[in-house]
Amino acid sequence: MADSMKGMKRSHRCTEVSGQNIGEKVTLMGWVQKRRNLGGLIFIDLRDRSGIIQLVFDENDVSKEGFERAETLRNEFVIAIEGLVQAREGAINSALKTGDIEIRVTALRILSEAQTPPFPIEEGSNTREELRLKYRYLDLRKPHLQRNLKLRSDVTTYVRSFLTKEGFLEIETPMLTKSTPEGARDYLVPSRIHPGNFYALPQSPQLFKQLLMCSGYDRYLQITKCFRDEDLRADRQPEFTQIDMELSFVDVDDVIDVNERLLAGLFKEILRVDVPLPIPRMTWKEAMERYGSDKPDIRFGMEITNVSDLVAECGFGVFTGALAAGGSVRGINAEGQGAMPRKKIDSFVAYAKDFGAKGLAYIAIGEDGAIKSSFAKFMAEDEMSALIARMNGKPGDLLFFAADKDKVVFDVLGNLRLELARYLDILDKSEYKFLWVTEFPLLEYSEEQDRYVAMHHPFTMPMEEDLPLLETNPGAVRAKAYDIVLNGTELGGGSVRIHQSDVQERMFEALGFSKEDAYERFGFLLNAFKYGVPPHAGLAFGLDRLVMLMAKEDNIREVIAFPKVKDASCLMTDAPNVVDAKQLEELSIGIVLNEESAEQE
Ligand code: AMO
Ligand code: AMP
Repeated sequence: MADSMKGMKRSHRCTEVSGQNIGEKVTLMGWVQKRRNLGGLIFIDLRDRSGIIQLVFDENDVSKEGFERAETLRNEFVIAIEGLVQAREGAINSALKTGDIEIRVTALRILSEAQTPPFPIEEGSNTREELRLKYRYLDLRKPHLQRNLKLRSDVTTYVRSFLTKEGFLEIETPMLTKSTPEGARDYLVPSRIHPGNFYALPQSPQLFKQLLMCSGYDRYLQITKCFRDEDLRADRQPEFTQIDMELSFVDVDDVIDVNERLLAGLFKEILRVDVPLPIPRMTWKEAMERYGSDKPDIRFGMEITNVSDLVAECGFGVFTGALAAGGSVRGINAEGQGAMPRKKIDSFVAYAKDFGAKGLAYIAIGEDGAIKSSFAKFMAEDEMSALIARMNGKPGDLLFFAADKDKVVFDVLGNLRLELARYLDILDKSEYKFLWVTEFPLLEYSEEQDRYVAMHHPFTMPMEEDLPLLETNPGAVRAKAYDIVLNGTELGGGSVRIHQSDVQERMFEALGFSKEDAYERFGFLLNAFKYGVPPHAGLAFGLDRLVMLMAKEDNIREVIAFPKVKDASCLMTDAPNVVDAKQLEELSIGIVLNEESAEQE
C-alpha cells in the first residue's frame, strides 16, 4: 500500500510507551537522535515531541536489507518503525522516561533523509543564539523548547477554560485599527485604497474592550497579539501576547479577586505550586520607598531605609546638598558583605552610576566592628553610630547610601538591591512571590513633552478622594490602577476606567488635550459613552512573561516559537525587508531616509 507513511500507522508517541506495553507490537515515528553500531546490533535513540526511546536493530530480527538500511541512518533522519516492546537488556537509563524499556525493531521505513544540522539537537547544547534563531525550526526540536511551547499551550488552555467558566466571552478585536493609547510607538500599515493613510496595529485592545462593555458584553476575554515599537529587552518583544480582559459593574477588588483565583488555579494545575490567597497588596508609594521599584521582587529583603533626618546636619556635602535640593538620602544593608573587596565595591558603585547615581557612599563594618567608609571623615562619631543603628548594621555588614532626588535614589537603590541579590545568588526560580501594586500615580510629568502624561492610559479612573487634586496638584492624584508582579517582573496591569464624561474631560484637560484633540483621537469612545456606559475595569497579563517565569527562563524568546532579536528583526525570515517598487507604487509610498537612517545605510 503506497501512502506517505509507507504503509505504517503510528500507534504511540515515543514516551507514551511504557513497561506496561512489554510484549506488545508498537509503531513509532520520529527523528533519529543518535545511532550506535555494536557489531550485529544497532541502537537508535528515536525522538519525537514527547521525548526519546531506544530502538534495537538485531540482524536476526529485521531483514538483511532492513538491517543494512538501519546502518545508513544518520541524525535527524525521519523514520517509522514497527517492533516489540521489551525490558532493557542493557543498563537502565534513569535519565529517560523510557529508560527501562526498548523496542526490538522488526520493520523500518525511512520517511525522510536529513543533512547534518548546523548544531546538535540536544538538551542544553550551547549554541550561539544567532545560529539558533537562523535555524529556529531546528532549534525548536530541542527538548526545552518543546517543553516550553507545550507549557504555553497548557497555560492558554487553562486560562480559557477558567475564565469561560467565570462567564467571560472570548471576542476578537481588529488588528488593522487606529492608534491606541498605550504610549509606545505604533507599527503602521499603509492603506492602498486610501493613499497616504495608515492603519496602526494595536498596542492593546484597550479601546475596543471598553466599547464592548458599552455594548453590554459584560465580561470579555481575548488572548491576542499586541504590537509596540519600543526598545527590546529580555522581557520585551515588538509583538507579544496579552491575556486581555474587561469586566462591567465591578471595582478594583472584583478584578483582583477573579485574577487571584485564576493565578492560583493555574499554578496549582500546571506547576503543582500553591499560591496563598489573598496575594499581598502594596501601594505604589510603599513599593518605591521599601524596594525602590514599582515591581518589587519580594523573594528577599534588603529593604531601603530612609536616613535623611539623621544626616540633615552632618558635614558631608553630598548628603546635605541632596537634601537641600529637595532630595533624600537612603541606604540598603548588604548583610554579611562587610569583607567585600574594594574592587568589587567599586564595581557596584559603577553599576549605580549606570542608573544615574552621582556616586554611592558606603560603610563596611568589619567582624571586629572596625569601620571602613568613603565618607566617615566628614561625619561625627555619634552621627555614624546613629546611621549604622538605623540601618541595623551589624559587624560583617556592608551599607550603601545614595543621595539625590527621590526618583534617582529609588532607581539606584532598587537596581543595586537586585544586582546584589544576583551577585549573592539568592534568587530561587522555583519560589513564586506574587504581589499586587496598587494606587499608582495617575499622571507623570514628562520633561520631554513639558506636560503631564498618563502613567497607565488616559481612561484610568482617579481615586475618588483625589479627584479635587486633578486641577490643583495633578502629580499627587492616585489612580485606581493595579499591577500584578511576580518575582520582580510586571506580569500584568489594569485599572478601573473612567465612565463619567465630566471626569474624562477633566482628565484630558490635565493631560493638556483640547476637546478637539481628544475627539480627533478617541471620538468613537467618547461618543459611545454618551449612550449608556456601565462602570467597568479590566486587566491584561503578558502571556510571554507569565510563561517565561513558569518555565524558569530568563528571556521571553525561550517561550516564543519565532521571536525577534534585539533590533526587532527575524533572523530566520530576514524580516523586515525591502519590498518591490511595484508594491510601494500601489501604496503611493516613496522612501525618504532621514539623516540618521541615511548614515546607517
Ligand atoms: P500594559 O501596557 O501594562 O497594559 O500591558 C499589559 C502587560 O503586557 C505585557 N507587555 C509586554 N510583554 C512583552 N513585550 C512587550 N513589549 C510588552 N509590553 C507589555 C506586560 C504588561 O504587564 N490595555 C492595558 C491593560 C488594561 O488596562 O486592561 C495594557 O496594555 O506583562
Ligand atoms: P566625593 O566627595 O565626590 O569624592 O564623594 C565622596 C564619596 O561620596 C564617594 O564615595 C562617592 O562615591 C560618594 N558619593 C558621591 N555622590 C554621591 C551621591 N549622590 N550619593 C551617595 N554617595 C555619593
